[in-house]
Amino acid sequence: MTGNFLIYGANGYTGEMITRYAVERGMKPIIAGRNAIAVEEIAKKHHLEYRVFSLDEGYRLDNALQQVDAVLHCAGPFSLTSRQMVEACLRNKKHYTDITGEIAVFESMAKLDKRAQDAGVMIMPGTGFDVVPTDCLARHLKDRLPTANYLSLAFYGMGRLSHGTQTTMTMNVGQGGAIRKDGKITRVPAAWKTTEIDFGEVTKTAVTIPWGDVATAYYSTGIPNIEVYTVVPAKQLKLMNASRYLGWLFATKPFQDYLQKQIPPGGPSDEERAKGKTLLWGQAEDPNGNRVESHMTAPEGYTTTALTALNIMQKILDGNVQPGSQTPAKAYGADLILEIGGVTRQDV
Ligand SMILES: NC(=O)c1ccc[n+]([C@@H]2O[C@H](COP(=O)([O-])OP(=O)(O)OC[C@H]3O[C@@H](n4cnc5c(N)ncnc54)[C@H](OP(=O)(O)O)[C@@H]3O)[C@@H](O)[C@H]2O)c1
Repeated sequence: MTGNFLIYGANGYTGEMITRYAVERGMKPIIAGRNAIAVEEIAKKHHLEYRVFSLDEGYRLDNALQQVDAVLHCAGPFSLTSRQMVEACLRNKKHYTDITGEIAVFESMAKLDKRAQDAGVMIMPGTGFDVVPTDCLARHLKDRLPTANYLSLAFYGMGRLSHGTQTTMTMNVGQGGAIRKDGKITRVPAAWKTTEIDFGEVTKTAVTIPWGDVATAYYSTGIPNIEVYTVVPAKQLKLMNASRYLGWLFATKPFQDYLQKQIPPGGPSDEERAKGKTLLWGQAEDPNGNRVESHMTAPEGYTTTALTALNIMQKILDGNVQPGSQTPAKAYGADLILEIGGVTRQDV
């Protein structure tokens, strides 16, 4: 045991923020990425060790992992980056965490359960805003209504999105929506259902989105029918509706290249994040018509990501791990999110 961890993608918007928060809590991660100048600058600023390598450089990746117990992978889109990192973790018997929100990534990680158990390592994708708060809410609702077979989750108030989040969303814009139906992930049109949600402080119109919980809440709760909603600005809703008919066009390379070039670097400033807040809502129902509902409030999304990802990493470094492919609430329970400052939960 080295008592330390690696942050890969430390020069990205979220990776840099997580590095800063880690140092503020007294952690001394080794940071890494493929951009030598940017990674070195961050390492020098925080007096941290650093490594420079791309994910194709297996020898260097293995070498970096040998010096730590676990990785916090922050380089996304994770559909393009997670496979190499998780394979390296299995090879080197190191725990794997990331901040993905991509359904396909969660599902591919779930398939690694047996290999992770055999290697004695924990694989936990989604240790950020997606999916820790909603995963804990899902588990809380299941604990309140153990017979539940329908789960709806929603969030509001993400604020401004980072470069990487927009890149990932744009990459998937032509693919429509997704829900879980009878245990299976099922494709539905973008913004398939619209509903009014009472978030406690405000009531808002929200639409279904292919959020990570469609994958993870099933593993955390066993509930076979799952829908996730969010409140989207009018401009984005227009794009989602247009993608029902033009999805094929949005997925073409020239259109993707055009859309990706429009995305500005960075993300919300520290001031914007400090002012931000997230409202969450969830409801579970059973076949007899019994229903439970809960609300939560949490800090702004990227702030929550840094806090939850580091909270989980600290548990791992303390030896509190469950080998296998895990979700946050399955490994640590519904109250994990209440360990984060500023989070509240109310049952309706
Ligand atoms: N779960 C959540 O709630 C949550 C919250 C925040 C972010 N995210 C996700 O985290 C990811 C990063 O977001 P961000 O805004 O921080 O992105 P960003 O600012 O664009 O940074 C992306 C980082 O990933 C690296 N990277 C990208 N592709 C790579 C590859 N093929 N090989 C190696 N490194 C690669 C980049 O390195 P270079 O500089 O060398 O390109 C950079 O360090 C996104 O997928 C986003 O959706 C999720």
